[in-house]
Amino acid sequence: MYRRRDTVSNPVRVRSPTAASEEGVADGQAQRGGPHRFAAVGAGRFAHLYHLPALLAHPRADLTMICDPTPSEHTIDLARRADIPIVADLDAVLQPDICDAVVISTPDRLHAPQVRRALEAGKHVLVDKPFVLDGATARDLTSMAERRQLVTAVAFNQRFSTAYRHAQRLVAEGELGTIRRVETIQLGGDWVISQDGSAPRQTGSLRPAWYQDPSLAGGGVLVGRGAHMADIVPWVLGRRPAQLRAEVLPGVTGQVDRGGTADLDFGDLTWRFASLADPAPLWDDVRIYGSAGRLEIRKPEGTLGFWSLSHCDIHDLAIPTPEPGVDTVAVDDFIGAIEGLHPPRCDFASACTSVDILEAMYASAASGGGWLPAGRPHEGVGQ
Ligand SMILES: NC(=O)c1ccc[n+]([C@@H]2O[C@H](COP(=O)([O-])OP(=O)(O)OC[C@H]3O[C@@H](n4cnc5c(N)ncnc54)[C@H](O)[C@@H]3O)[C@@H](O)[C@H]2O)c1
Repeated sequence: MYRRRDTVSNPVRVRSPTAASEEGVADGQAQRGGPHRFAAVGAGRFAHLYHLPALLAHPRADLTMICDPTPSEHTIDLARRADIPIVADLDAVLQPDICDAVVISTPDRLHAPQVRRALEAGKHVLVDKPFVLDGATARDLTSMAERRQLVTAVAFNQRFSTAYRHAQRLVAEGELGTIRRVETIQLGGDWVISQDGSAPRQTGSLRPAWYQDPSLAGGGVLVGRGAHMADIVPWVLGRRPAQLRAEVLPGVTGQVDRGGTADLDFGDLTWRFASLADPAPLWDDVRIYGSAGRLEIRKPEGTLGFWSLSHCDIHDLAIPTPEPGVDTVAVDDFIGAIEGLHPPRCDFASACTSVDILEAMYASAASGGGWLPAGRPHEGVGQ
């Protein structure tokens, strides 16, 4: 299943500090050509689905180490077959002779401290969504990476979908006219929780227990699912809301929320948002209403890459057929950015918008649902 460039008979080459400096490769400096040495921090469900296959298949990436304190049988098997060491301690992978970049795919509340340590060690960082859970930390990490000239990315995979890329282009080129209203609804995320991986797969997706634990997840459906909308809608529109008001549906005592609803105000445009726990399979609808045309983007099956631009009432406009699996994935994009070929599709600065929106939603709900500012753009170093 894994297409690794080095086979087991040609084990992973962990370069020594001497070898690295002889080749003039400064730790963490953007570089062309590769091979680029990567460590995977967290090798759970999503890493196996999305990041690890991309890292192992990329012709200029070497996966040199996996950091996971409780590796699954799947991870142990992969590491054995590809001859990749597994360690429990993050410091072990952050050594100069191990990697140039890390891919972090751990429970959400671990992102901020792990990203910080990786940046301090001079590594380029690709981290899973949600980036982090508060705007101050998001900006601090963004500035830190900018000062150190490190490449950063957040794996908001929906930015790679054909449908959203097309929608973004249509909006930017004015094909929809003036956008007056956006409506988004996400249903799903009523996870079947598994402590040991043995729980039956029922109506919801099987999820590890940390998804219900506020000390690790940071939030519930609003963070897990809503983060995607909080990222993709401002990205498609090319602008961010000025203020918002929200309600959050509380979970059972001691557990995370079950989603929420919000109104987001852009001045001349309103966005009605709902992200709600539901036992049915994942369902996302996005509707963008413009003065010259309307778009509907839909993800009916909860699968990666199956987004469809299902309705568009602009005459004579070719709607692209979604091509699951052929869109660039976050790891490939990250490597291109490390090589200086293009900016990352979603860098830390860009991901600050989604962090601000979610933080303001929780704050508004906590204050009784009143209007609150929805954050401000990240101001780069020296501005
Ligand atoms: N973009 C998407 O559509 C999408 C979908 C699912 C999950 N995610 C994100 O991916 C991340 C991982 O989620 P998941 O569902 O794979 O969870 P998971 O529990 O399956 O994987 C997390 C892994 O992190 C490991 N881990 C825990 N503590 C660690 C530590 N201190 N250092 C290193 N590893 C540690 C765990 O052992 C586990 O293997 C989360 O941030 C989640 O929000 C994104």
